[in-house]
Amino acid sequence: PRSNVVVTPVTLRAAFEGAFLIGAALNAAQFSGRDTVGATLVRAQFNTTTSENVLKWQAVHPLPGTYDFAAADRYVAFGERNGMFIVGHTLVWHKQTPSWVFQDSSGRPVSRDTLLVRLRDHIHTVVGRYRGRIRGWDVVNEALNEDGTLRPTPWLQIIGEDYIAQAFRFAHEADPDAELYYNDYSLENAPKRSGALDLVRRLRNEGVPIAAVGLQGHDRMDWPTPAQQDSTVAAFAALGVHVMITELDIDVLPPDLNPYPDSLPDSMQQALAQRYAALFAVYLRHADAITRVTFWGVSDGSSWLNNWPVRGRTNYPLLFDRLHRKKPAFEAVVGVAQQAAAR
Ligand code: G3I
Repeated sequence: PRSNVVVTPVTLRAAFEGAFLIGAALNAAQFSGRDTVGATLVRAQFNTTTSENVLKWQAVHPLPGTYDFAAADRYVAFGERNGMFIVGHTLVWHKQTPSWVFQDSSGRPVSRDTLLVRLRDHIHTVVGRYRGRIRGWDVVNEALNEDGTLRPTPWLQIIGEDYIAQAFRFAHEADPDAELYYNDYSLENAPKRSGALDLVRRLRNEGVPIAAVGLQGHDRMDWPTPAQQDSTVAAFAALGVHVMITELDIDVLPPDLNPYPDSLPDSMQQALAQRYAALFAVYLRHADAITRVTFWGVSDGSSWLNNWPVRGRTNYPLLFDRLHRKKPAFEAVVGVAQQAAAR
């Protein structure tokens, strides 16, 4: 007899069910109806979303006393319509923050007290607006130098070291149920990692409500090694916080060159697939600690890596190509999940 069984293709969200949430960073293209194919892909493949740009200070709070939530509202509505675990990115950062934040009306640096009032107002307004809807926040982003010391941002210089703890406290006041994260890159490198471990330890000792550390995961083909990734996840998990891979992508281009303007050679596709498989094998081994893995973008065409560190290159960092089709890396990642589930 003929069977009418329809084979449903495996999705990322189904493959990692029970291990961790799997998501992507979104921009207006996906949640404002401009890129309907991309939006359909997001709905099918992911169960969590992060705002790539629309919740940054510059976007929601461009001028003193002026908030603009038009794009952010659409981002949150898209997540709600599609049952996503919605993440907000980011409350405190040194980039994409207007300079007026740190200045008085004559352009001089404001006092610690004034900046704390501004920080509290911003966090209360933004987190409060989406209370109970945005479920997790990157509260502080990239506060560390490569040597593990605190980055000399206006936040640090004007408020002092406690700006980080204060930001977490303000966010907790605004939404006591939201998960609060510290998010940074290159934490797989020993000096920065040890600075971040110290920071998290200090925050925990002071009773600051930090739920997880976000390892951004802007990776390369040869960095971090699976061993570096493994020991880094283990080190943070040992402090009792969850770990998240928050901005995953793999830069396949050599510095300054644009060698594949038309397509990625097969050998590179396969190497990228193996590289992704090796990383996901590490994540799955740590599925107790890792609660979420989020890609920084949906498909290759919308990745920031097409414009950094050089503008206008053609990069291939994600699991879906420029036409939103699955790449060999997609199959490799799903394969690792299926092997782990079979064990
Ligand atoms: O919106 C304007 C658009 O109107 C204009 O035509 C265009 C021309 O340059 O620029 C657009 O703004 C750009 C914006 O992305 C939206 O595409 C900015 O120039 C560009 O600087 C901005 O880059 C973002 C970057 O953060 C800013 O630092 C990237 O999209 C975003 O992926 C990136 O994300 C960061 C995370 O927040 C933190 N971790 C690192 C990660 C990658 O840098």
